[in-house]
Amino acid sequence: MLPVLALLLPLVGFVAGFAPLQRNIAYRSPTLTTSSLAHDIDHIGAKIVKRSTLGRRSLESARGGHAADQLVIDYDSAKGIDGQDSYHGSFTFPYGVASGDPLDDSAILWTHPVPKDADTVEPICLRYQTSKVKDSWHEKDLVDSSYAWTTSDVDYSFKVETQLPEPKTRYYYRFFGCHDHSLVSPTGTFTTMPSPDDETVGSLKMAVFSCSNYPFGYFNSFGQAAKSDVDLVAHVGDYIYESAGDGSPDAYGDGRPLNRVPQPNREIVTLDDYRLRYATYRSDPDLQRLHQKKPWLLIWDDHEVADNSWKAGTADSNDTAAGTVEGVRFTERKKNAVKAYFEWMPIRQVDTAGDTLRIWRKFQYGKLADIAMLDTRNYDRDITDLYYNTAEVASLANDTARSLMGGKQERWLYHNLIHSQKRGATWKLIGQQIIVNHLNYGEADFPVDYDAWDGYEANRRRLFDTIRANDIQNVILLSGDSHAAWVYDAIYQEWENRTDLYDPSTGRGALAVEFAGTAVSSPSSYGAKLTPAQYVAQAEKLVSINRNLAFAEGGHRGYFTLDVRPNELDASFWGIVNNTQQSSDQILLAKFNVQKGANRLTRPINNGKPAKGGALQAQIIDYSKQQWNGSGFS
Ligand SMILES: *[C@@H]1O[C@H](CO)[C@@H](O)[C@H](O)[C@H]1NC(C)=O
Ligand SMILES: *[C@@H]1O[C@H](CO)[C@@H](O)[C@H](O)[C@H]1NC(C)=O
Ligand SMILES: *[C@@H]1O[C@H](CO)[C@@H](O)[C@H](O)[C@H]1NC(C)=O
Ligand SMILES: *[C@@H]1O[C@H](CO)[C@@H](O)[C@H](O)[C@H]1NC(C)=O
Ligand SMILES: *[C@@H]1O[C@H](CO)[C@@H](O)[C@H](O)[C@H]1NC(C)=O
Repeated sequence: MLPVLALLLPLVGFVAGFAPLQRNIAYRSPTLTTSSLAHDIDHIGAKIVKRSTLGRRSLESARGGHAADQLVIDYDSAKGIDGQDSYHGSFTFPYGVASGDPLDDSAILWTHPVPKDADTVEPICLRYQTSKVKDSWHEKDLVDSSYAWTTSDVDYSFKVETQLPEPKTRYYYRFFGCHDHSLVSPTGTFTTMPSPDDETVGSLKMAVFSCSNYPFGYFNSFGQAAKSDVDLVAHVGDYIYESAGDGSPDAYGDGRPLNRVPQPNREIVTLDDYRLRYATYRSDPDLQRLHQKKPWLLIWDDHEVADNSWKAGTADSNDTAAGTVEGVRFTERKKNAVKAYFEWMPIRQVDTAGDTLRIWRKFQYGKLADIAMLDTRNYDRDITDLYYNTAEVASLANDTARSLMGGKQERWLYHNLIHSQKRGATWKLIGQQIIVNHLNYGEADFPVDYDAWDGYEANRRRLFDTIRANDIQNVILLSGDSHAAWVYDAIYQEWENRTDLYDPSTGRGALAVEFAGTAVSSPSSYGAKLTPAQYVAQAEKLVSINRNLAFAEGGHRGYFTLDVRPNELDASFWGIVNNTQQSSDQILLAKFNVQKGANRLTRPINNGKPAKGGALQAQIIDYSKQQWNGSGFS
């Protein structure tokens, strides 16, 4: 009898204590399968250890380490039902609430309580409620209600999946203490997506952001979108930056004048560093408000790890002694960055066996649009321009063996594009990081950015080949990363001067359209301190030397919105009037239309009117009046 009992008893305790941990998917971040990145909660029942010898402080200060595989929880799992034996002190919600990755029947809800007693080792028990009626938390209005735990092991992040009865429906959610219902979070809201086979979807409004750099300016773009009627927010990366921000020699930006120096004020490398950096960003009221008001689809770029990241390093880090930053090697640093990202972002865990870094995923917005969110950065990208190897990467740029996405992700994308076309989804939106189309910056030494798709020409060719060979209609590429705005008819680089294949005056021959947004606050890639006239002159030069580039703008910080309808879509590019001023106004710089089935920008571009910033190619050059003579247009 004895051995059987001894086996059974821990199992009972395990089942009771497991659920409130299990429901907080932060313990499983970033992967649902056990890996060194997630906490092994499936076996936690067998692993409960007193935390007395390893307090929170020492755990968090384990430099270069990540606390993931050291999860030790100092409570008896058998007793921890609904708040019993959890933390009974006070706590606040200084980082607000967030929702993300809404499907037709569920969404991710996020918050981050902070206990008043910073030294507590007890779990915080939070209830969450989802209601179909604004400000009503009556039983009859609730569609979901449960509780879960969070602890310092996951930096008190609290991430649950709420189950929802109806597609295309607005819901409201909040969190409060299990033992003290007066400790209540702000109320957030989101709308579920239509079901994938819904043919009646008339519209999708989406705001697209990139490059939100805290010390450089206010997050006016987020604040403006929070006031708008968009259904969804996409952030295509550089949500945080890894550098110090106090104007010191290694810093990127000087946040002192605006009191926006991010913590910790040095280049971040440890798990604690990344967590604290997210905490600084999420203290921003505009960013908080947009998370509270809209559901987000998030994907990372390089700076969520470090500058110019690729699969095995960044500009300043790799796994050699020379690439060790603050005592931390690249692989460890990347794990820390990834774990903190999943803790702080309301994104789903995407799982395929062993793919612990997979973040690329897709959404189906009825039959109106399929949305793919790609990782062209950290998943499986071949070596990029790290500043000291530019010539080498330039010589490799057209190598067919090179991939931005990795073979697995490329195959997934191409398969999905074909599937989207077959299933009758009208628009194929592809959210990703870097500029897809060829972009000649007109500089003498290296005219293109090899850290963008220009450094991975074969990958770009395979994407366009897939579109062409399978007659995939209505592909819209959404990009960020570059700190300036660009609008393209998407074509093969080799078609640039082939008037037989692509006509810049009509867009005939284009395969798709690319909208690339400027930064929320990162400084312009044209140069940070040009005069308004210089920004316009530079934009004019760029649209003159890139034949499929319809619009360029580098003088404003901002974002763009998409208004997607069954027969057409509009993209509106917004510029913040003065981003070193809080609550600044925005202006509409230019607006672009794409008709269903056209696969190019509608002419006349911007309705034939001048842009309110930057340059429209059509206002500068009339290609319909020019002929290619073999070496130029005349
Ligand atoms: C590693 O990174 C350092 C710092 O950027 C660089 O000097 C070194 O060349 C890199 N080593 C390799 C093998 O990439
Ligand atoms: C790049 O490679 C493709 C196919 O391998 C080839 O057709 C093209 O001419 C190459 N481009 C350059 C500039 O070498
Ligand atoms: C932007 O706002 C700041 C802060 O109010 C002000 O100092 C600056 O002069 C403004 N810049 C412009 C171009 O108006
Ligand atoms: C197109 O023509 C321009 C002007 O002659 C030239 O600079 C550019 O390299 C050509 N582009 C391609 C892809 O051949
Ligand atoms: C072709 O046009 C370019 C640009 O206008 C001009 O510089 C060049 O001389 C022309 N070439 C010939 C052969 O006419």
